[in-house]
Amino acid sequence: MKLDDTRQTIAETFDRTADTYDAVGVDFFGVFARQLLDDVGPIAGDDVLDIGCGRGAVLFPAAERVGPTGSVLGIDLSPAMVARTERDIADLGLDITVAVMDAQDPVLPGRLFDTILSSCVVFFLPDPIAALRAWHDLLRPGGRIGLTTFCGDDPRWSPVREVFGPYIPPEMIWSMVNPANPMASTENFESALGSAGFTSPSSVIREHEITFADPTHWVDWSWSHGQRLFWELIPPAEQPAVRAEVLSRLAPLRDPDGCVRMKQAVRYTVAHRP
Ligand SMILES: C[S@@+](CC[C@H](N)C(=O)[O-])C[C@H]1O[C@@H](n2cnc3c(N)ncnc32)[C@H](O)[C@@H]1O
Repeated sequence: MKLDDTRQTIAETFDRTADTYDAVGVDFFGVFARQLLDDVGPIAGDDVLDIGCGRGAVLFPAAERVGPTGSVLGIDLSPAMVARTERDIADLGLDITVAVMDAQDPVLPGRLFDTILSSCVVFFLPDPIAALRAWHDLLRPGGRIGLTTFCGDDPRWSPVREVFGPYIPPEMIWSMVNPANPMASTENFESALGSAGFTSPSSVIREHEITFADPTHWVDWSWSHGQRLFWELIPPAEQPAVRAEVLSRLAPLRDPDGCVRMKQAVRYTVAHRP
């Protein structure tokens, strides 16, 4: 798979999630976005760039914080995500701009920002360090960047994840487990930020409990975001059997109230442009 194929695959996958993304009754991306904003603390009047803005989990609360004297621009690779978010912005009558753009190599001539935010995105990029370098150059001196990355999986959920294993190409598995991956550890990630020119990176790992009403709710949710990629690697004829296997492995994880709960560890990293 060439780099451009990968980007096209990612864009098309998110195009297919756009209608349901963050809209199936699971508070997931919003939790991380609100915490990231608390950590980075954009203030009234700031110019904010949200990279990989999706359906606006970061974008909308960021706009509230910077107020009418600030500005918020969101960029995303997926035309459908951008179109849906644009419609939400219009419905709410807000002054937020969104554009289709590749975060790997953003082209924003003459634009500089006080704050750059990017939640749950950097691990989709083919060359994260080169992207971070480009993002560094979009910050004003003294500006801040805030990022979230996933770090670690709930061990109770291993039997569910294992169902997808045989369908994932080895090179994809290797990039997820490669200890040299910039996202493999806090040390790697902060060092990647340093090589991109950022100073004083600091990270906090927080564990969030995510609740699904029942096993089927988890399956529906897993189709509504990037995990859809893994479902779509399964030949369509095999998907019903895989779905049944996933549901049977989720059954023992149910709590007495019928819900299934997953612990999600998230790394929140803030760094600065000197
Ligand atoms: C997991 S979603 C996160 C969206 C949003 N930040 C949030 O927290 O809900 C990842 C987003 O990154 C976008 N994305 C992936 N690769 C990208 C790239 N190369 N350039 C721009 N956006 C990208 C996807 O289209 C998707 O909207």
